[in-house]
Amino acid sequence: MVSTTLLTLLLGVTGVFALPPIPSPSSSAKDLRLCKTSPTDPGIWITEEEKFTRFISKKINFVDITDTPNLEALAAEKATNLQVSTASIESAFPSGPAHQSQAAPLISALSQANLQTWTNGLANFYTRYYKSSYAPQAATWLYDTVVSVAKANPTITVRKFNHSYSMPSIIAKIPGTTNSVVVVSAHYDSVGSTASGRAPGADDDASGVVVILEALRVLAAAKFKPSGPSLEFHFYSGEEGGLLGSRDVMNDYRTRNVDVLAVVNQDMTGYSPNNVIAIFDDYVSLPLTSFLKTLVPAYTQLKVLTDRCGYACSDHASATAAGFPAAYVCEDSMNDSSPYIHSAQDAVSTVNFAHVLQHAKFTVGFLVEASYF
Ligand SMILES: *[C@@H]1O[C@H](CO)[C@@H](O)[C@H](O)[C@H]1NC(C)=O
Ligand SMILES: *[C@@H]1O[C@H](CO)[C@@H](O)[C@H](O)[C@H]1NC(C)=O
Repeated sequence: MVSTTLLTLLLGVTGVFALPPIPSPSSSAKDLRLCKTSPTDPGIWITEEEKFTRFISKKINFVDITDTPNLEALAAEKATNLQVSTASIESAFPSGPAHQSQAAPLISALSQANLQTWTNGLANFYTRYYKSSYAPQAATWLYDTVVSVAKANPTITVRKFNHSYSMPSIIAKIPGTTNSVVVVSAHYDSVGSTASGRAPGADDDASGVVVILEALRVLAAAKFKPSGPSLEFHFYSGEEGGLLGSRDVMNDYRTRNVDVLAVVNQDMTGYSPNNVIAIFDDYVSLPLTSFLKTLVPAYTQLKVLTDRCGYACSDHASATAAGFPAAYVCEDSMNDSSPYIHSAQDAVSTVNFAHVLQHAKFTVGFLVEASYF
């Protein structure tokens, strides 16, 4: 998660005065990145190091749009030209859960031990920072793990989605019967207080990765066949570098007009002093969010808490920018979520795996429900 404290300030000042034109980087500074901190911010060209000094250390959310400068414009153009609008997809979400009996045995098969084992595997990398030398190793580890989990059902495909840096996103797909797609997502990169710092990223966001990985495992083992849309599991890289992986993937899906019905992103699932599941209502689809709120009491033992997290707080923002219905599900409110993220203290010992399991139950419930969309 990209955390923020200056949201109110930023929202208060943007759009009030004319913004300066974006300078292009000189040829001697090819490594500069164009980063934005609000929808109306044209962005500034900064070094990778400046991402830490300007944003990460100050808990300011940002998006690195260098590789995907046209995503928002593409989405706006498609919204004008396409027959099927986001609003028409959203009007079709059901009013509540309808497939609990089908989901129950799948939920019973979820293993808290798997959640813990895989979180350890991810946190054991010194860092999973997308620019670090460990990034390709973490990618190979996760790809191999996803493949091993998926092989119980040979119809499932697993692929790497390459980016401009050496850490692909990983996409597993359970084929359905229509051309539509429903996505659950989490990011597997991590970040410390500096580019070279220890970054176990146990809660942020190994805890989200293992939730969708364990959901994939039980659906694969049961040879679950969606009645409608294909179910995709997106393991994004580069989230902490400015939502890089998810923007690239969503830019591709928007360019190819993939019929994405819903994207449910989970970033941090294992630290919840209020013992809740938090569902956020900014930069998301409110109809999808309302539907998800009905699933929490149906599929978990927890109550729903609603909060907002600001511009660019996690990868659901990329799906929203692409014009796809997206939602964000997290462990607790912004104020009460893990205080250890983006540091060496984001350790496995701080993660409550009973709470992570609740997110896994929610995820399987959602996927079964969504397989009828
Ligand atoms: C992704 O990158 C890897 C490593 O550079 C390469 O071997 C692979 O062919 C690429 N995959 C695609 C689909 O381009
Ligand atoms: C979070 O904490 C800040 C600072 O203490 C406070 O102003 C704000 O109201 C809190 N937000 C919520 C949703 O409780």
